[in-house]
Amino acid sequence: MGIQHTSSTSSNGTGHGLEHTQTFDPGGLFAERVASIPSSFIRDILKTTARPEVISFAGGLPNPAYFPVEDIHTATDNALRKSGRAMLQYSTTEGFLPLREWISARYKAQQGIDISPDDILITNGSQQSIDLVGKIFLDKGDRIVLENPGYLGAIQSFSAYQPRFVTAELNDDGIDIQGLNHAVTTTSPKIVSMIPNFQNPTGISYSLETRERVGDTLKGKNVIAIEDDPYGDIKFHDNRLPSLKHYLGDQVVMFGSFSKIVAPGLRLGWVAAHRSIIDKLNVAKQAADLHSNFFAQRVMFEYLSTNNVDAHIAKICAAYKHQRDVMIEAIRTYLPAGLKHTNPEGGMFIWLTLPEGTSSIALLELALQRNVAFVPGKPFYANGGGLNTLRLNFSNSDEATIHEGMKRLSSAMEELFKHAPITTTA
Ligand SMILES: Cc1ncc(COP(=O)(O)O)c(C=O)c1O
Repeated sequence: MGIQHTSSTSSNGTGHGLEHTQTFDPGGLFAERVASIPSSFIRDILKTTARPEVISFAGGLPNPAYFPVEDIHTATDNALRKSGRAMLQYSTTEGFLPLREWISARYKAQQGIDISPDDILITNGSQQSIDLVGKIFLDKGDRIVLENPGYLGAIQSFSAYQPRFVTAELNDDGIDIQGLNHAVTTTSPKIVSMIPNFQNPTGISYSLETRERVGDTLKGKNVIAIEDDPYGDIKFHDNRLPSLKHYLGDQVVMFGSFSKIVAPGLRLGWVAAHRSIIDKLNVAKQAADLHSNFFAQRVMFEYLSTNNVDAHIAKICAAYKHQRDVMIEAIRTYLPAGLKHTNPEGGMFIWLTLPEGTSSIALLELALQRNVAFVPGKPFYANGGGLNTLRLNFSNSDEATIHEGMKRLSSAMEELFKHAPITTTA
């Protein structure tokens, strides 16, 4: 539909009449790159799940029950009282220094990694980090390696820069090293983008060996390794495996986010990278939006520096772990035996694989008739495939809802498999 453009030619010569309406169609004006951006399949699904009777395992939403509403309220009051005029003013592109110092200190305390606050850029969440990195590195036709399946938001964001996606399969213990090696040696990519902790969409984490071998594979090559890590703190055990930074040093561009540990609505994340990369990102960000919401940055810093954030994160982790357990049990109880599923040790997602030859898109249609939703796996595969896979979110549903939703999904599967009986390999 075009934009309604009204032109007036009034008979009294004042030009104020409404006598005919032309339709303006901007279609031919859009840049080529816009056609390259896939619309977010998830967003389209989320529209259908807005009906209150739909149980949605589709979104990637943190559980709002654990948003620190009262503490954010207090932090906002205090920040406004302390620095109201400053926080309502324009600010610097790199972000609020005390917030960058907090992030730097946390890298040191949690992972023993030295990152100067000057090597950190505050962004509007990791999604903007992805876009800015695409903007400064990717020319049309450049190769970028993604996990297969990979994060849909990265596929969407990078697509605007018209790269050629090269994929490396994701196995149970992380990115397939042979595939990665083949991709790197045969296509000379500029970037390899990875989510080593509790990946979206699969929940899979890279094993220690995979991390080491990623290091061996990429070390010294002329390639950037993105480590996108919004879920690293949302873990269901005490163990933290080393960042790729330990193996690849300055080749790594690290993305972090406050979305999963505090609240996504504040839209705050960061990039930590070599100074020369941060400098370029800074210019790109300046051109995009001058700086991230300074009000939100000051509130975030006030919140972080006056609360026990680790206790808060521990609460989220305990809740999600329980929800994960409930969903795994429900999968085993209600769904056909032998379906392959991941059993994530953190994050927010479980990945389900249906028998070869079946379609999760067809399943979604049957599921929506029963008022339950999930995300079919196909859009997570940058170069196609994955028709028989799907993503389930467990962080945003309570125990009773998970059980009810899984019963509905089971009924949808029964219908789907009626004519194509399930034959499983365990
Ligand atoms: C792997 C990954 N990267 C980046 C993002 C974007 O997160 P945000 O922009 O909220 O920090 C998400 C959100 O779900 C994600 O799963």
